[in-house]
Amino acid sequence: MWREYFGESCHVYGVDIEAACMAYGDEKTKVFIGDQADRAFWAKVRKAVPTIDILIDDGGHLPEQQRITLEEMLPHICSGGVYLCEDIHGADNEFAAYVQGLANGLNSATPAEMPKDTAGLAFTVTGLQGTIHSIHLYPFVAVIEKRERNLDLLIALSGPSSRQTQPSPQALSNPALIFRYGNGTVLASYGDSIDSLLDFDPNPKTALIETTKTKGF
Ligand SMILES: C[S@@+](CC[C@H](N)C(=O)[O-])C[C@H]1O[C@@H](n2cnc3c(N)ncnc32)[C@H](O)[C@@H]1O
Repeated sequence: MWREYFGESCHVYGVDIEAACMAYGDEKTKVFIGDQADRAFWAKVRKAVPTIDILIDDGGHLPEQQRITLEEMLPHICSGGVYLCEDIHGADNEFAAYVQGLANGLNSATPAEMPKDTAGLAFTVTGLQGTIHSIHLYPFVAVIEKRERNLDLLIALSGPSSRQTQPSPQALSNPALIFRYGNGTVLASYGDSIDSLLDFDPNPKTALIETTKTKGF
């Protein structure tokens, strides 16, 4: 099913506690037998599978199993990759609460020095903020997206509202002013307002500007 969905060239790795699932293995599908609540088991999987783009947890559905799977495997998912966990049922679901705790961590705000000549607020990033792009909760499903590039700083720019539709020549000539947010890359001039930056994204999701460390910072 997954090969039909993702295409013939995808590598499929399956994990199950039932040895009978080995029957689903073939030359293009590797099956690992083990307990998803066993951290040592995941260490073996990580050794055998160098990169994972998408991980879907549809296993035992116990919060403890889901949490250990996430903790052991999220760091192993490649940049730009996606983690999903299905069947998070119940208003007081412990795993959903755990994911909500992670989502709160995305708002951690430790002030940092603003890049030179730039107005606004800068924050150092935690390991979570540096590597996790977003955390989504749907009915019964959690989705975590990893960043394509790790961040060094989070910046909320401030300045006069100019509603520019083009980056200023100063921004274009200065590699220190390449800002990324949402799904796009934005070039901003010093003091550009968030309003003006949003003009570059047809579907802005956040007013926070994410920067990667570039020359001049
Ligand atoms: C809901 S089924 C889903 C199977 C498969 N994802 C599918 O859609 O056909 C859950 C699977 O998780 C496996 N499972 C249960 N507890 C597990 C555990 N602790 N570790 C790994 N797999 C487990 C079960 O054997 C079962 O095959």
